[in-house]
Amino acid sequence: MTNQQELELYQIKMLFNQPAAAAFPEWLQPRQTKAVQHFHQSLPQYQPTPLLTLPRLAAEGGVQAVLIKNEAERFGLNAFKALGSSWAIARLLAERLGLNPETVCLADLTQPEIQSRLAAEKITFCTATDGNHGRGVAWTASLLNCPCHIYLPAGAEPERVQAIAQLGAEVITTELSYDDTAALAREQANTHGWLLVQDTTLPGYTEIPKLIIQGYSTMATEIMAQLQQQELPTPTHIFLQAGVGSMAGGMLAFLAQAMAQSAQPHPKFIILEPKQVNCCYLAAQSGNPAASVPGVQQTIMAGLNCGTPCSVVMPLLQAQADCFMACPDFVAAHGMRLANSTQAAPFISGESGAVALGAIDLLLQRPEMAQARQILNINTNSVMLGINTEGAMAPSVWQKIVKEGACPLP
Ligand SMILES: Cc1ncc(COP(=O)(O)O)c(C=O)c1O
Repeated sequence: MTNQQELELYQIKMLFNQPAAAAFPEWLQPRQTKAVQHFHQSLPQYQPTPLLTLPRLAAEGGVQAVLIKNEAERFGLNAFKALGSSWAIARLLAERLGLNPETVCLADLTQPEIQSRLAAEKITFCTATDGNHGRGVAWTASLLNCPCHIYLPAGAEPERVQAIAQLGAEVITTELSYDDTAALAREQANTHGWLLVQDTTLPGYTEIPKLIIQGYSTMATEIMAQLQQQELPTPTHIFLQAGVGSMAGGMLAFLAQAMAQSAQPHPKFIILEPKQVNCCYLAAQSGNPAASVPGVQQTIMAGLNCGTPCSVVMPLLQAQADCFMACPDFVAAHGMRLANSTQAAPFISGESGAVALGAIDLLLQRPEMAQARQILNINTNSVMLGINTEGAMAPSVWQKIVKEGACPLP
């Protein structure tokens, strides 16, 4: 990466970059999103999640608008993640069972003949997860009446574990890091003949993560439609959380292309990670897409506690993101409290979801961040877009932070 600049402002580490001209691989092209949306629309509880406007924050921050896509309302599952796993599973099964992958819908997969084949072939799913992805896999498996096995890393919140078990999955908690848990899930899948549905790449395992990333495109499709329907201004700065970077890479690709297609200016993309586990930041900084943070790390942002970037999107993030922000936990906690308190219509934001709102607000408001605002060209015309990727997945943690003020701003 050329022309990098690194700063530490208000304890937030920032890496600024001059992005290359946008270029995207075939599997991230907009034409891939049609079949994805068709499938998602066939699922129970499908509804576009709301695109919220936060006028008070925008006024306080001196920008034109602050927009938040609220994925806490997705499918009644409290997070965006099931978009990816449900699509990947549908595509996999369509190919395996001879259904049309361009038009596959839930009714195809639940018809009696297909159900008998799933049972006869003992189709079983398996994955490792920080919580949300596993819940999505377990939910999809339950819609298809298939068993599944979900592996969680060390420190998994009991409430996250329970939410997955309630969907009928077998849940195995480990004392391993996320990366090691993913390796274990893969080993178990190989041993037992289960289908591994992992939301990140592993050596020699890239096709299913690509399908999962395509599944996230429904968020971008909805955002583009909502901007028009709600007559909102075009986002100039888009904030995307990264664990392994799958969601961020996919959303960057789909949003950048959708905006180009509708002749809107190319926005700046800002990638957010926990400070302790900033593998995408380190990969961008070093130019090594496989840079990783080893061992078990502590952060309240459980969904972002991943040590190694997803190999099929990291080169894209490295080339095309404008900024990487490595955020202390207080940024997420601040976002959680803001979501709950300062808006006309409060919403629930969990630790990994809230870092977008927290980062937007601190970037706009803190005097210490003035240099960052200048580099990112934030001004009164700017329109900030973030995604609240989860609600309160661990209600007791949410309670401590939002109601009791844990993890305050410095
Ligand atoms: C709530 C939430 N937000 C963001 C992410 C980041 O997604 P990715 O791992 O694709 O970077 C996750 C991942 O599990 C998550 O659970």
